[in-house]
Amino acid sequence: MADVVGKNSGVTAVSSEAQVTGRVETILAGMSLAEKIGQLTQISGAPFFPGPKPEEVIRKGGAGSVLWLNDTQKFNALQKIAVEESPSKIPLLFALDVIHGYRTIFPVPLAMASSWDPSVAERAQSVAAREASAAGLHWTFGPMVDIARDARWGRIVEGAGEDPCLGAAMAAAQVRGFQGPSVGTPDHLLACAKHFAGYGAADGGRDYDPVYLPESRLRNVYFPPFQAAVKAGVGTFMSAYMDLNDVPASGNRFLLHDVLRGEWGFKGFVVSDAFAVGNLITEGFARDCRDAALRALSAGLDMDMASDTYSQYLAGLVEDGTLKLADVEAATRRILAIKVRMGLFEQPYADETKLAQLLALPEHRNEACLAAQRSMVLLRNEGRLLPLSKSLKNLAVIGPLADSKEATEGSWMVFGHTPAAVTVLEGLRARLAGANVTYAPGPEIWRDIASFFDDMMPGANQKPKQTAEEAEAAFQTAVDTARNADLVVMVLGEQANMAGEAASRASLDLPGRQEQLLKAVVALGKPVVLVLLNGRPLSINWASENVPAILEAWEPGSEGGNAVADILFGDANPGGKLPVTFPRKAGHAPLYYARDMTHSPEGDPMYRSRYWDGPMTPLYPFGFGLSYTTFLITNLTVATPKVKLGNSVTVTAEVTNTGTLAGDEVVQLYIHQKAGSDSRPLRELKGFERLTLQPGETKKVSFMLGPAELGYWSTNAGKWIQEAADFDVWIGADSTATLCAEFAVVA
Ligand code: NOJ
Repeated sequence: MADVVGKNSGVTAVSSEAQVTGRVETILAGMSLAEKIGQLTQISGAPFFPGPKPEEVIRKGGAGSVLWLNDTQKFNALQKIAVEESPSKIPLLFALDVIHGYRTIFPVPLAMASSWDPSVAERAQSVAAREASAAGLHWTFGPMVDIARDARWGRIVEGAGEDPCLGAAMAAAQVRGFQGPSVGTPDHLLACAKHFAGYGAADGGRDYDPVYLPESRLRNVYFPPFQAAVKAGVGTFMSAYMDLNDVPASGNRFLLHDVLRGEWGFKGFVVSDAFAVGNLITEGFARDCRDAALRALSAGLDMDMASDTYSQYLAGLVEDGTLKLADVEAATRRILAIKVRMGLFEQPYADETKLAQLLALPEHRNEACLAAQRSMVLLRNEGRLLPLSKSLKNLAVIGPLADSKEATEGSWMVFGHTPAAVTVLEGLRARLAGANVTYAPGPEIWRDIASFFDDMMPGANQKPKQTAEEAEAAFQTAVDTARNADLVVMVLGEQANMAGEAASRASLDLPGRQEQLLKAVVALGKPVVLVLLNGRPLSINWASENVPAILEAWEPGSEGGNAVADILFGDANPGGKLPVTFPRKAGHAPLYYARDMTHSPEGDPMYRSRYWDGPMTPLYPFGFGLSYTTFLITNLTVATPKVKLGNSVTVTAEVTNTGTLAGDEVVQLYIHQKAGSDSRPLRELKGFERLTLQPGETKKVSFMLGPAELGYWSTNAGKWIQEAADFDVWIGADSTATLCAEFAVVA
C-alpha cells in the first residue's frame, strides 16, 4: 500500500492550530454539502448489519467513519476507495470498542481502578492502542468514565467505580494511554470519553433508564472524570443514550454545547452512541427523523453513529433554511481537524505486515500480568491462610469459572474471546507442576434472559443449557472432588455476559447454585480460598463470614490465571482497594460512601431503623483491601490549621510497614466541610497514593488541598464556590479511616 500513501493529499503533516485550521478550510472549500454531511456519518462495517454496502456509501463520500469492523485488509480496501475514488478523497476513521485490550486483554476497567494506580491504566491502554493501531484501527470508544454507584447496573464493570476523584485520575490516565501525549501520536488511538453524561445513575440500575440528577450532583460527582478527560486532551466525546432530567443526552445542548464546549473549551468532536439520534423519536423527544437530525445537530452532536438520520435529513434541512449551513460546517470542520491532526491524510493505510509480530510481543503479556496482580483486592484472610505454600500436594479447583476463558477475559471483548487467556485452573496447574491438581466445575451458571451480544459473539450462552439432572451430578462431583483434596480453591462469580451493556441485575447474589456449592465444600472442613471473577460488587454475606480467604480478582484478562497464582502463592502481595462499595443486599443500592449527613447519623438510635431487616452498612467499604503485610498510618499533620480562602494547605502523614513482607498500601485522604451554603458529603476522597514499603520501612505522604479540592458547585449559590468553613480531614487505608485532624479556611 506504500505506493498510494499520501497520493491524495500532496500536503505535508501539520501540527500548529493555525496550520490545522488552514488545512481544514482548504479541504472544506472543495466539498459539496452531501460530502460535508458524509463526514458526519459513521457507517457500520459489521457483516450482520443491514443497509447499503459500505463500499457504495464511501465511494460517494457518504461516510466519515466506519465502526464494528476488525479486518486490516478490509480497512485498507475501504480506505483506498475513500482516498482514491471519493470526490474529496478524505480518509476514513476506523473505530471500534477497544475497552481493555485488543489482543492482549487487560483487567476490565473496574479492576484497573482497583489498582488505585493510574499508571496501570495508562500502560494498559497504551498497549491496547499499539496493538489496535497496528491492526489499522484509528479510534477507540473509550475510556468509559461514567461514575457508577449502583451495583445492579451492568456497565459498572466498564468504568472506574463510584468516586469522582479516583474516576478523574483513571479517566486522564486512560486518555494518555490511548492517545499518547497528543492526538496523532504514532502507534496510538484517538480516544473517546463516554457516555456524556450521567448514564451510570439509571433509575433502578436498569440500563438505558432515565436519569434524574440535580445540577450539583452532575457537576460535583458525574462531570469530573469527563472534564479530566478534556484536560488530558481527549479528541472525541460520545453522548449517552438516556434522558438526563427529561432531555435525551444526545439532544442535550446544555451538555454538548454549554458545558462541554462553552465551559470546558473542548475542541474535538462528539459522536452519538449507536442509533441514538434516531432514538430521539423512540424517547418521545423528536417528532420524526428530520426533527431528530435537526435537534441532535443543533445540540452539538457532530457524528451520527450507525444510522442514516443525518445523511437522510440534514441536506433538506439546510436547503429549506431550517438549519444553517454554518452549523453543519462547524461539525464537519471539527471532524476534519481531528483527521488532519492525526496525520490521516499522510498515512491513511495500515501496514499489513506489522500486526502478527506486534501481537506476539511477550512484554504485552507481562504488562497484562502486572496489571492483573495490581488490580486484585484481598477481602479476607483469616488465620493468614494466604499466601499458600508451594509445597501443596493435593489441591482441588472447583467452580464454573475456574476454567472459563470468557470469564477470565471479561466483558466487552473486541469481537469475541481469544483462546489465549490463562484461566485460574491453568495458572494454578502451571504453578504446582508436581502436585495433584484436580478440577470440577460444579453446575453451570446461566443468564436467564439472554444478552443480544450472545447472538453476535461466541460466548458461554451458546451451548445447550445443562439439565437439572446434569447440574445435580456436576454438584456432587464437585463436592466429591473437594473431599479428596487438602485445600480447595473455589472460583465463583459471574460469567462475562452477566455484566456490561444490557446486563443489569436485580440481585447481587452469586448466580445459580454457587453459594450452595460453596457451603457444601466449606462443610467438608477443608481450608477454602474463594477467588471471585465478576464485574460488579456481589453480596457475598455468607462467604464474608465463613470462607477464610477471599480474593476479588474481578475479570482479570489474558494473564488472569497466572496473576491469581502469583497472589495465592505469595509471588505478588495484593495491594488493590475497592473502587466501589459492596452492599449487603441489592435492595441497598445505590450505596456509596460520599453521602450527605442525615438528621439521624450513625450512632443515633434512629439510624438503626433505616432498614429494619438488617444492617445498612456496607459489606466492604469503598477503598478497602488487605495485604499479606500490615501497615500503620500515623502523624497526621496539617501544615497550617488556618488557611486563607484561595490558598492551599499541605496535609501529611506517615505510613509504616509493620509486617514482615514487602507490600503496597494505598494511602487515602478524605475531607468533610462541616457547614456552609450547602450540606456536603460525610467524606470525599481528595487524594490518594499507592506506595510500596519494605518491612519496617516508613514513608511520608503529602497531599495538597487547594481551591479545586476544597470548593464545590453549590445549589444555593448556583455556581462553583469556595467558602470560609471548618473542615475535618482523614488519612487512612479506606473510607472508614479514623485518623483525623481539623483545619479552617478563613476569609
Ligand atoms: C453502544 C455502547 O453503549 C457504546 O458504549 C459503544 O461504544 C457503542 N455501542 C459502539 O459499539
